[in-house]
Amino acid sequence: MVEKIILDCDPGHDDAVAILLAVANPNIDLIGVTTVGGNAALEKCTYNARACLQQYGATDVPVHAGCDRPLVHPLEVADYVHGETGLDGTELPVPTRPLDKGHAVNWIIDTIMNNEPKTITLVPTGPLTNIAMAMRMEPRIVERVKQVVLMGGGYNIGNWSAVAEFNVKTDPEAAHIVFAEKGWPVTMIGLDLTHQALCTPEVQAKIDEIGTPTAKFVSELMDFFRLSYHDAEEFVDPPVHDPCTVAYLIDPSVITMRRAPVEVELRGDLTVGMTVADLRGLEPSAEECNTQVAVKLDFDKFWNLVIDAVKRIG
Ligand code: BDR
Ligand code: CA
Repeated sequence: MVEKIILDCDPGHDDAVAILLAVANPNIDLIGVTTVGGNAALEKCTYNARACLQQYGATDVPVHAGCDRPLVHPLEVADYVHGETGLDGTELPVPTRPLDKGHAVNWIIDTIMNNEPKTITLVPTGPLTNIAMAMRMEPRIVERVKQVVLMGGGYNIGNWSAVAEFNVKTDPEAAHIVFAEKGWPVTMIGLDLTHQALCTPEVQAKIDEIGTPTAKFVSELMDFFRLSYHDAEEFVDPPVHDPCTVAYLIDPSVITMRRAPVEVELRGDLTVGMTVADLRGLEPSAEECNTQVAVKLDFDKFWNLVIDAVKRIG
């Protein structure tokens, strides 16, 4: 079955791979890309999203720019991971499609309200600012969205603080709004899972073997990401977080999930932005719980999807 998705992102090296997977895989219908300030300032993330679509030959996909800052706090970009441009390490093609008119939040609302209920999946891979804004401006989107599959958070681990992940910590109030909503299914693909999606030298060699311009593009992004993650967090291989969302939608068997209530910490001096997942299996029961968290990645299946996407684009 083909999944219709809106990818709300902040490219970002791993967002770029999420866009690739969404464009190339026949089980995904990428109806639009929306951007949010996150890894870099909004203008840079928006340009990067358009450049990625150009690189992948997907100039029919609309791009709408959204919120340039979190709901409450100032934006702190992740330039130490993604570089000055947000997508350092490769030469970006110049986008030929002009930026689409209209704010991303309005576009998300209109698109959801004008499509059949429960046909569109939201895939946020950046801070949740646009999604929370859309929920507040048009609460009826909640019952019309099929599901939310997001990269963010973690139940055991942080990266932007000891216990908080970047996308959630950047806009904790927005994340709180998304997770506190019980009227839609939310899948949290957090760091516990994405730290299994490592771009090892063996994986990268398979991408290099393909030998096409997009293979080179992805490989150069991965080279930069490897160095950043090595310097910033002492990773040997970089974790490629964001495409795990799209991979799960293509083939749910790529990720083992576990039902658990999730709440976002807003007040702790040391813990703000933490996603507190209750894995004790108490209330609500698995059938009643609208949230699930990603636990285990099928490494080979995941990377085969990415490699297949690179091959398809050429
Ligand atoms: C998340 O933060 C960003 O830097 C990545 O693009 C990913 O979405 C990982 O914490
Ligand atoms: Ca991202």
